[in-house]
Amino acid sequence: SSVLRSVKTLAKPAGARGYSSESVPDRKVAVLGAAGGIGQPLALLMKLNPLVSRLALYDIANTPGVAADVGHINTRSEVAGYMGNDQLGQALEDSDVVIIPAGVPRKPGMTRDDLFNINAGIVKDLCSAIAKYCPNAIVNMISNPVNSTVPIAAEVFKKAGTYNEKKLFGVTTLDVVRAKTFYAGKANVNVPVVGGHAGITILPLFSQATPKANLADEDIKALTKRTQDGGTEVVEAKAGKGSATLSMAYAGAIFADACLKGLNGVPDVVECSFVQSTSTVTELPFFASKVRLGKNGVEEVLEGLEKLKPELKASIEKGVKFANA
Ligand code: NAD
Ligand code: LMR
Repeated sequence: SSVLRSVKTLAKPAGARGYSSESVPDRKVAVLGAAGGIGQPLALLMKLNPLVSRLALYDIANTPGVAADVGHINTRSEVAGYMGNDQLGQALEDSDVVIIPAGVPRKPGMTRDDLFNINAGIVKDLCSAIAKYCPNAIVNMISNPVNSTVPIAAEVFKKAGTYNEKKLFGVTTLDVVRAKTFYAGKANVNVPVVGGHAGITILPLFSQATPKANLADEDIKALTKRTQDGGTEVVEAKAGKGSATLSMAYAGAIFADACLKGLNGVPDVVECSFVQSTSTVTELPFFASKVRLGKNGVEEVLEGLEKLKPELKASIEKGVKFANA
């Protein structure tokens, strides 16, 4: 559509494919709730991501302005804004990754579960549209309560006959970002966070953090509590003006980038995420774990528990057998 694009096209040697399709595959990313507190900075960060070729920004209001604004940034992707239910299908069509930060945020004194009544309906409607217009897309669920909105999405997809457990993710990257910050405050550390995304269901594993630090028990306890209460810390600091938006946009951009890299076949892409659990150790159908991302979404859930199970089972049986002999 731009002058330069046509110049580039004309300048291409005969038979050669365009620069973008040659080096990086075309990928469409849709953001649902793109005009919100998270949606806007997330739209900006996705516009800066060279793996994105088309960026669809959808909301019930204000997307023309956000799209016009972000669209003036001279990076790879073409930006389009979509507003209102009539344009949702177009926004979703051909999407490889759909990121959902649509819904209301907490105010001081509320739990994430207090958002259920409003956000459950929003997520249900958006997921019905995903099932219809881009059933093969990877879904990154940000809307709270994540512990419930991900199961809602799964049920909607099951009813529509499109459910693929490898492509549905609850975004818990902000818990990991916080755990890393509180652990060391620098970029090159890693802290796995498992469980869910609310209060004590957020379980950072500082014992598995790298590089290793010999933390005292009370330090681990304090770091764990601060990570679990991280969302509330921001909600209280914002004093009624919403919850984490900028750090969430950062975390959401990291997770979406990991999904895109996985789709593009980049090896060893591992992030923690709330996904369908394959573990027979926890009977919970969903559990946040370390996940290896690949061309099909979830390539492997690295729960760690499966690995220890055979040895533990054998040792238990040995003891029982000995005592009964
Ligand atoms: P916000 O109110 O600033 O923005 C929400 C946006 O969603 C608004 O622009 C609104 O118009 C839009 N919206 C509402 N209904 C919609 C619909 N049916 N379709 C499309 N868009 C719709 O809120 P926010 O601060 O951006 O937070 C959004 C959600 O993300 C909240 O539920 C919040 O709790 C959650 N959140 C999750 C995490 C996490 O770690 N997973 C972190 C922070 C916030
Ligand atoms: C967060 O962890 O920041 C989000 O889940 C928003 C919230 O309500 O705390």
